[in-house]
Amino acid sequence: MAEMRPLIAGNWKMHGTTEALAEARALAGNLKADPTPPRVALCPPHTLVAQMAWALRGSQVEVGGQDCHVEPKGAFTGDVSAEMLADAGARLVIIAHSERRAAYGETDEIAADKTRAALRAGLEPIVCVGETLAEREAGNTLDVVGRQVRGSLPRELAGRAFAVAYEPVWAIGTGLTPTVAQIEEVHRAIRAILAEMFGAEGQGAPILYGGSVNPKNAAEILRVPEVGGALVGGASLKCADFEAIVRAA
Ligand code: PGA
Repeated sequence: MAEMRPLIAGNWKMHGTTEALAEARALAGNLKADPTPPRVALCPPHTLVAQMAWALRGSQVEVGGQDCHVEPKGAFTGDVSAEMLADAGARLVIIAHSERRAAYGETDEIAADKTRAALRAGLEPIVCVGETLAEREAGNTLDVVGRQVRGSLPRELAGRAFAVAYEPVWAIGTGLTPTVAQIEEVHRAIRAILAEMFGAEGQGAPILYGGSVNPKNAAEILRVPEVGGALVGGASLKCADFEAIVRAA
């Protein structure tokens, strides 16, 4: 398999006003001297995307959105399109995060439509999947995640840059993480499905792990076979913590 550059993406969720851009600027400044940097991205709330893209222009830190609508424009009060994110300077977009699946009823079909929208706008989608605690305890993890991967990744991804993020719902924001063996099992299963869906091209997409990644556990998690990076929530809000995770990659 070709060596792929890990991707470390920060998901700020609904955190951050203008003053938080100082953290992003500090991160970009500190990473400047790194000779073999991983790919690094920050996904702030929509209100900060344009300002952050401007603040980080010329740096190695890319900017992403946290969600997009399926349509390019229209009467959809409160929504933001993939084209608008791209226009604001985003390069990536998180699709179907479990918080959106749970709170907004985003199904695999909606995830696939939003992924198509991201591709249409030239954005790199980070498509999220992951089981609930009840699903894991019932022994259904691989079934659930497999169904989400097959249903949320449209055929149009063939030959395009994208990432999958495996985020067990019970590990998000809880301080709990799966064992490395559990992470490896799911990541290997996702890789096999990507190979089945996209052939050799499916080998190039990084599979990120997400859920309570922090400076202490990052190195161990990022060493797990088939872990191609991390999607980081809480620990991406502080430059020092996020930088430590980036340096562990
Ligand atoms: P967390 O969130 O790192 O705060 O657990 C991860 C995510 O929701 O992407």
